[in-house]
Amino acid sequence: MNRIPIIIDTDPGVDDFFCIAIGCAFPELFDLRAVTTIGGNNSTDVTTGNALDILKLLHREDVPVARGADSYLVNEFDEPVAKFHGANGLGDVEIPHSDRQIDPLPAWDKIYEQAKLFPGELVLVTVGPETNLAMAFNKYPDLKQMIRKIVVMGGSLDRGNVTEYGEANIWHDAEAGKIVFATGIPIDMVGLNVTRTAPLKQTIFEGTDDDVREDVKDVIRKLIDFRNGEAMHDAIAISSLVSDDIMIWKDAYTYVVDGEVYNRGQTVADYDAKEKNSRVAVGIHLGAYYKVMKDMINRYK
Ligand code: BDR
Ligand code: CA
Repeated sequence: MNRIPIIIDTDPGVDDFFCIAIGCAFPELFDLRAVTTIGGNNSTDVTTGNALDILKLLHREDVPVARGADSYLVNEFDEPVAKFHGANGLGDVEIPHSDRQIDPLPAWDKIYEQAKLFPGELVLVTVGPETNLAMAFNKYPDLKQMIRKIVVMGGSLDRGNVTEYGEANIWHDAEAGKIVFATGIPIDMVGLNVTRTAPLKQTIFEGTDDDVREDVKDVIRKLIDFRNGEAMHDAIAISSLVSDDIMIWKDAYTYVVDGEVYNRGQTVADYDAKEKNSRVAVGIHLGAYYKVMKDMINRYK
């Protein structure tokens, strides 16, 4: 099987750490072309620094980091969400600092550059607000034809986590989410309705190898503790790309409700629509997901 060229668009981010760690851990599956950053969990300066530091810890400083936007399409960023991601955006876990430079291209230009290199092959894994993607689609009208698929951690088919309907990534920049879902590019939506059912606890280390790097294990342990064993949403989205069978999918036409309305950020999946633009996750095989997590841990030696 050919390796899938991917870009991870992210706001690291406690659970984003796990998404990046999985994206880096399976080079036989993924050709990780870039990590592009967006704020949300914290400022874009902080999330970009975190992306660089995470890649250093994972020994993947070959992966370029391209910095993204400093505000949403329409709204400004909110205050950092220290409760979910710590004051430093990484659960207050300290990891070694990287002095590496960011890529000279901004996120949207990096996405376009890589799409042109891999037309019809590039997969975008988006686990933060979708601002950078929307900016790329707005700037480059021919980009849509070049992207194979977008894997979205975002939205929910039941309750949100910011409001009754709004999940953070989509709610924060619902205008961007609306643009991305309307591109016509096949979308795999892994929403909160599924991710919140998949806790990640210290038991994940059971059965993993003894010679996994202590520094990586230590960070993982601390991040799991910071979240009290709750779900690492972003990891679940990328796991679905490691193994398609992890999710139970349903085809749907899915759209995002934007604007300043009570259900801002709602993702509405119409299963009966004639034209479908997405597969939405409606269930998860937990054993298969935990296997990906354990395999990921075992790769860091
Ligand atoms: C999403 O919001 C962010 O805080 C997390 O990193 C995840 O991407 C969950 O709603
Ligand atoms: Ca995230």
